[in-house]
Amino acid sequence: MKSKFLEIFNKKNKSKIICLTAYSKNIAQIIDKHCDIVLVGDSLGSVLYNYKSTKSVTLDIMIEHSKSVRMGIKKSLMVVDMPYNTYRNSSEALKNARAIILKTKCDAVKLEGGKKIYQIIKILIKNKIPVMGHLGILPQSDKSFKVKGKKIIERKNLLKDAKTLEDLGVFSIVLECVESSLAKEITKTINIPTIGIGASVNCDGQVLVTDDLIGLNPIKVRFVKRFANITKQINSAIIKYKNEVKSKKFPKKIHSY
Ligand code: KIV
Repeated sequence: MKSKFLEIFNKKNKSKIICLTAYSKNIAQIIDKHCDIVLVGDSLGSVLYNYKSTKSVTLDIMIEHSKSVRMGIKKSLMVVDMPYNTYRNSSEALKNARAIILKTKCDAVKLEGGKKIYQIIKILIKNKIPVMGHLGILPQSDKSFKVKGKKIIERKNLLKDAKTLEDLGVFSIVLECVESSLAKEITKTINIPTIGIGASVNCDGQVLVTDDLIGLNPIKVRFVKRFANITKQINSAIIKYKNEVKSKKFPKKIHSY
């Protein structure tokens, strides 16, 4: 196992794994210092492009944003989401995952699903492509975004899926909106780290969309905590700029040639 993966694996049961999303170099270089994993999530579809779902995100969009993110990362493990319809069968998945790794120089790809994509994950791992799993709410395919694990059958299937992904060799699993006690059970049962989003404190790590936590994206969902209000700060900087341009206070001689 390569050292960055090993470092993350070794944090299980010891210290929390910190993961955040980035869609560009500027954010990536700020969060890189504090993260174990930086994820170029296909959530960029709704956060940046106002798409109704992540289904509209293309491979090209993911690759361009990931190339920008790569420039901002020095130490974290970089994971890129494989977008919708880019892993419908093994050969498509392998071709696209290879393109993502080659063009973006990321460390791993993330795919949504468990048993249903067994063969696909198997072929990627056989070809030495590191994979992060994603269970619980699957934004690329779920019709409703209700918390997972309230029904017994759902709990059994999710636990089975988590074990299947572990057996396949994924290096960690994102649990999205999974009921707390089930997140705890999965985390206790499998030997690889779980990274929660809306899945309680019981996971080995936590991920959030950076734009949500800094208040750049005005989303209101239960699992997001806003740690800053960057929109307010940008707004006041722009007002100052506007006023100084209008009053001819800016640019001064030192800003001119
Ligand atoms: O697309 C994304 O940002 C994600 C995280 C929310 C886990 O998959």
